[in-house]
Amino acid sequence: MSAKRLNLFPITADVNRHDHLVLGGCDCAALLRKYGSPLYVFDEATIRSQCQEYMHEFKSRYRDTTAAYASKAFINKAVAQIIKEEGMGLDTVSGGEINVARAVGFDPVKVFFHGNNKSEAELNMALDWGLGRIVVDNLHELELLNRLAAGRKIKANILLRLNPGVDPHTHKHTTTGILDSKFGFPIGTGQAEEAVKKALLLKNIVLHGLHFHLGSPISETAPYKQGLEVVLKFAAAMKAKHSFTMKELSPGGGFAVRYISSAEIPPVSSYADSIVSNLIALTSKLGLPKPRLIIEPGRSIIARSGVAIYTVGSIKDIPSVRTYVCVDGGMGDNIRPALYEAKYEALLANKVNARNTRKITIAGRYCESGDILIRDIAMPEVTAGDLVAIPVCGAYCVPMSSNYNMVPHPAIVMVSAGRSRIIRRRQKYSDLMKYDISGKS
Ligand SMILES: Cc1ncc(COP(=O)(O)O)c(C=O)c1O
Repeated sequence: MSAKRLNLFPITADVNRHDHLVLGGCDCAALLRKYGSPLYVFDEATIRSQCQEYMHEFKSRYRDTTAAYASKAFINKAVAQIIKEEGMGLDTVSGGEINVARAVGFDPVKVFFHGNNKSEAELNMALDWGLGRIVVDNLHELELLNRLAAGRKIKANILLRLNPGVDPHTHKHTTTGILDSKFGFPIGTGQAEEAVKKALLLKNIVLHGLHFHLGSPISETAPYKQGLEVVLKFAAAMKAKHSFTMKELSPGGGFAVRYISSAEIPPVSSYADSIVSNLIALTSKLGLPKPRLIIEPGRSIIARSGVAIYTVGSIKDIPSVRTYVCVDGGMGDNIRPALYEAKYEALLANKVNARNTRKITIAGRYCESGDILIRDIAMPEVTAGDLVAIPVCGAYCVPMSSNYNMVPHPAIVMVSAGRSRIIRRRQKYSDLMKYDISGKS
């Protein structure tokens, strides 16, 4: 194992006298014996420390900051409860995510509702529960929301999601702020101005501010600066032309995390420095009031806390070609390598300090050639029964999981101070047929 790999794991990661990986004070081999394999392990201390770091780095530079966790990265009741206890807001994108927030008694005023095609039922839910802000993506939604709010004799509190036309240099599947995108009102085409004009006219809409989100993960600070320049210039033009006062502004989320040891990722303080200093300088230059700043980190709050642990089964050595080490999970629980060519590293949770002596490819168990978790990684000698631990699996793995090949979802446990608790039980075969209606005619 290279020592650097251990640094990718949660902040509590350690190695015990059995040479086993320890997370949150719990021996991972023992966790797999207790809860089965594969297993997702989340470290509570890492989630809390990330929440605190984001709030500290932004609020210490700009007091009027709201940090809202982007729940699409991974939400369930246990995670929502932690986010609530840490005093953050919550960015949601569906009725399902809103319902998790409700289930843990999240303050609705701290909830933001996103999405490029929210249904009428979801908008009704947002209005009835009194969500803090609905982030309106398009004119259809704006008009529908006005009508629904009018029916209730209330006003809907909104931000407008803009498309600034800035390339954040992410994978094309996770780029959202370029002109050719399904998200937001493009500024360059004049559609954003139409939206501002309309929102100001509609009787049951209160337009509090503007929002943009460029993509994810963004491993440079420059795109945020470019996005702020475009959007703040637009805000100044809207002030001059339509007397619009931007009281709130969100540059979204997208802050990167280190997935592999060699990656250069800016610290949270650099993102905060860049966003806050540009916001202050540009608002002063353009004569705009200082808005409330809303940031929406998702991946960067939860990714490092999660570790996927698999058991090795078959090993296929193709001489002079490749050695495939097959594990009992794969694209069903982590689609990111297949979808985005995402890169990961790994170590053996039951032999952490064994020397890396060979190059292997860690393949999943699903019936797709593309089901490869890690291609060509230096690892120790591996045999059936060994435990492969992949770090930085806390974001966009579990929530994007599928039951492809009718394989049940793994169990998820939360570890903290030497104790483990199950936060989502392993699916059973009966769960997979729960919604099927008998095939008999
Ligand atoms: C509007 C919005 N905000 C925040 C996020 C969170 O991004 P990340 O998890 O990279 O921080 C996303 C992700 O797609 C998003 O669409």
